[in-house]
Amino acid sequence: MKKVVLAYSGGLDTSCIVKWLTEQGYDVICFVADLGQGLGQGESFEAIEERALAAGASKVYIKDLQDEFVQDFVLPALKANAIYEGKYLLSTALGRPLIAKYLVEIAHKEKANAIAHGCTGKGNDQVRLEVGVGILDPKLEIIAPVRAWEFKSREEEIEYAKMHNIPIDVTKKRPYSIDRNIWGISIEAGVLEDLEQEPPEDAYMITKNPTIQVSYPKYIEVYFERGIPKKIDGRLYKLKTLIGHLNEIGGLYGVGRSDLVENRLVGIKSREIYEAPAATILHIAHKELEALVLDRELAHFKEIISLKYSELVYNGLWYSPLKGALDSFVNATQKHVSGTIKLKLFKGNCVAAARKSSHSLYKKELSTYGKEDKFDQKLAEGFIKIWGMPYKR
Ligand code: ARG
Repeated sequence: MKKVVLAYSGGLDTSCIVKWLTEQGYDVICFVADLGQGLGQGESFEAIEERALAAGASKVYIKDLQDEFVQDFVLPALKANAIYEGKYLLSTALGRPLIAKYLVEIAHKEKANAIAHGCTGKGNDQVRLEVGVGILDPKLEIIAPVRAWEFKSREEEIEYAKMHNIPIDVTKKRPYSIDRNIWGISIEAGVLEDLEQEPPEDAYMITKNPTIQVSYPKYIEVYFERGIPKKIDGRLYKLKTLIGHLNEIGGLYGVGRSDLVENRLVGIKSREIYEAPAATILHIAHKELEALVLDRELAHFKEIISLKYSELVYNGLWYSPLKGALDSFVNATQKHVSGTIKLKLFKGNCVAAARKSSHSLYKKELSTYGKEDKFDQKLAEGFIKIWGMPYKR
């Protein structure tokens, strides 16, 4: 019998896929990745497992991958300052290569010859999963039922699920398409498709409305060691817990929302909104610290790398040789990225209030306009003459 490992979420699409694949003659093994997606009300991993079995799966793997996700995927992207099109902190994009890794691992363990997913044929996620799997094991067959099957609407899928006694709760469905993990939430579809409308408040899940905030700002201190966030307000945290903590504080102050029209890899422009409080806070803090400790050449060159890095992540090339090579560069730049950044959170904003590092290249005796000035201004004259020399005709 043909065996397939399916990336299973517990939702309507992937539940129908389980049944549909069994009808095509497959033995279906479901894999559920826990990336901190914050299950909905009344939902549990036990319930998801039962649903998969009820839909016809022969076996279900549920794996808590949150630590691996933050350590091996989120952290490299943070060190690289990877932000897509200036606004998207890549939460969804970073999760996919990890899911691909486990699909392949489970396929090997189970001696399956195929993997399957529930992505549509219009998005980036199909590319990320399939290119990821293809790099890790090019021999595995890939099945994307949503691109191929006969269902034309959600209603038809619900009908199919009912007919086959797949226990789906269709009543609680929010009017958006949501992808969530510990690094952020991506929200699209529904009224968000209308570019002339501001996203309704109910579309946001973890950030308070920045305009109806408390009257005082919140200060927090983030301490980094070689580019890795270690402490908040002097307290040591495990990375996953630190991110969870910053999501809560940031969310309370409305920090981390973004609304963008982005360029998908498949050539479509789409409108999506994001919530990523911890990611936003950490990116800002990290960048502020780098401003202090990286010399100009390194800092400016690293910006070019950040841009490329974000494209590679967005475009599903996590396991590509270039991405690996860029990681080596980025890691080398983090040698002196240690220190503390104090941030002020207020009404959706997050700005640096104080900076401190023993590796700081800031020298007050050089920049000061006060009497402690040690900068020899006479030297500037010769420097400018030579610097401008090539441009004189
Ligand atoms: N546009 C984002 C990306 O390509 C998120 C895609 C998934 N979004 C969603 N709401 N299901 O990374």
